[in-house]
Amino acid sequence: MSTTPEFGSLRSDDDHWDIVSSVGYTALLVAGWRAVHARSPQPLVRDDYAQAFIAASQDPYLAEVLASPGTSEDQTAFPRLYGVQTRFFDDFFLAAGQAGVRQAVIVAAGLDSRAYRLDWPVGTTVFEIDLPKVLEFKSRVLAERGATPRARRIEVAADLRGEWSKPLEAAGFDVERPGAWSVEGILPYLTDDAQNTLFTLISGLSAPGSRVAVGALGTRLDHDQLEGLEAAHPGVNMSGSVDFSALTYEPESDPAAWLSSHGWAVEPIRNTLQLEAVYGMIPPEVDVKIDSFMRSQYITATR
Ligand SMILES: C[S@@+](CC[C@H](N)C(=O)[O-])C[C@H]1O[C@@H](n2cnc3c(N)ncnc32)[C@H](O)[C@@H]1O
Repeated sequence: MSTTPEFGSLRSDDDHWDIVSSVGYTALLVAGWRAVHARSPQPLVRDDYAQAFIAASQDPYLAEVLASPGTSEDQTAFPRLYGVQTRFFDDFFLAAGQAGVRQAVIVAAGLDSRAYRLDWPVGTTVFEIDLPKVLEFKSRVLAERGATPRARRIEVAADLRGEWSKPLEAAGFDVERPGAWSVEGILPYLTDDAQNTLFTLISGLSAPGSRVAVGALGTRLDHDQLEGLEAAHPGVNMSGSVDFSALTYEPESDPAAWLSSHGWAVEPIRNTLQLEAVYGMIPPEVDVKIDSFMRSQYITATR
């Protein structure tokens, strides 16, 4: 790659997408990495629906990745990273359920299939927020497969840059009861202001006992890091429709500090390498080009 485009240069305040364009494609991309992870010798999680999304999208790049995932450090790094991340959020929701929380909100749900995969306690409602075309694609593919959710699943088609709390409440979210929120794979796609709005609305909807898990993935990447990342993983860019630099902003925000100063008790933060150790994985030889992703922060907080 010769030049790195300006951060956010492909974005506007009210841009929209489907599953094969702009930010929507990133949901397909991470589903692809989860599908590859599921085939690894000792997967941390199995997302058997991920492969169905790739097939239905007919995306040639991801079809090729699935056909021949490769075994080099570069080729396995992202599937491994997303295995770790998926496990972190799976465990978060299961722990919240064990603690009695019966409302889950998956913010920027993309092709997250937790509503269909996890063993939710009886009486749980899972709300999934994303843009309409992303949710439509997911529902269509899963319905075609005859998949049934393992909790009451409610889609909330809304833009996280706007007043999404109203449609969430209209869909049945009860502000009097605690909720468990996942903020996964979304922060780099929001400006600092939009992130502030997101956490402010989450806090405003969170009764005592609520929990939030945040993956601060890819935040604080600078141009050099992104350039190295894309050079190391040319496929990420070669897909033609994903250019992380141009789709992401350069947020300065610090989610853990924000939560601490707004009434949340934040647990010790862990990064990808620390989680790998918790999950009993032998740490990879970390390629300096993806080092910043390996140091992504995983935050859990309770209200
Ligand atoms: C990288 S994907 C992550 C999807 C999912 N959380 C996961 O980890 O598999 C980013 C997702 O954020 C959604 N998203 C980004 N900005 C959004 C916005 N302003 N409103 C609603 N959804 C948004 C995209 O549509 C996409 O599904």
